[in-house]
Amino acid sequence: MYIVSPSILASDFSKLGCEAEAVYNAGAQWLHIDVMDGHFVPNITLGADIVRSIRPHSKAFFDVHLMIDDPLFYAERFAQAGAELITFHIEAPCDIEKTISKIKELGVKVGISLKPKTPAEAIAPYLKDIDLVLVMTVEPGFGGQKFMADMLPKIAELKKMIDESGKDILIQVDGGIDKNTAPLVKEAGATVLVAGSSVFRSNDYKEAIDSLKNA
Ligand code: DX5
Ligand code: ZN
Repeated sequence: MYIVSPSILASDFSKLGCEAEAVYNAGAQWLHIDVMDGHFVPNITLGADIVRSIRPHSKAFFDVHLMIDDPLFYAERFAQAGAELITFHIEAPCDIEKTISKIKELGVKVGISLKPKTPAEAIAPYLKDIDLVLVMTVEPGFGGQKFMADMLPKIAELKKMIDESGKDILIQVDGGIDKNTAPLVKEAGATVLVAGSSVFRSNDYKEAIDSLKNA
C-alpha cells in the first residue's frame, strides 16, 4: 500500500541503467527521475534522452519530477521518452491549466509539486484535474538535505482536502526520507515515498526499500 520511488539522482550516474534495474529488482515499484534545468533550481541534472536510455532497463513506473521553468514545452519529450507520471511545480512561471491539459493529452498521469514555502491551499483550484500532489520536504535542487519536519502539517492538510474532495489523489513526499522520517510522513497521510540517499547510499537496496515500506 505504500509505494517507494527511489530517486535516481542519488545513484551512480556512470551506470544509470544498472542502478534503475537494481532498485526495481529490490522491490521498488516506481523510479523517481529528477529533471533540473539550472533556472527553476540552481542545478542541472538530466534530460529526456537519458530517460529514454534508462527505459529498457527497468519495468518500474517512471515518475518524472520536473524542476524546470517550462514544463509545458518539455512534457511531450519526457512522455515520448517513457515517463508515466509527469509532475511539475506550481511555482514554475507557466500556465498551470494548460500544462495539466497537455500532460493529460499525452496519456500520462499528472502531478503538481509544492515547494516548502507554498501553502497547501495553492493546490485547491487544480485538485479536480490531477493524479498526485508532491510535497517537497526539502528545498528542491539537491539530494541529501535534511528533512523539514515543519512540512508534516501541510501533508495532513492536503490529506484532509483530498479526502473532502472525494478524489483519488496520491500524496508523494520528496526530500530527506529515510527509515526515521518515513513513519512521520505516513502518519500525516503520504503514500508515495521518494528516497534518494537512503536507498542509493545504502549497501543493501532491498533492505533500505523494505525498511521504508514497513517503517
Ligand atoms: C531534490 C529532489 C529529490 C532528491 C531527494 O530536489 O527532488 O528527489 O533526489 O534526495 P534525498 O532523498 O537524498 O533527500
Ligand atoms: Zn524529486
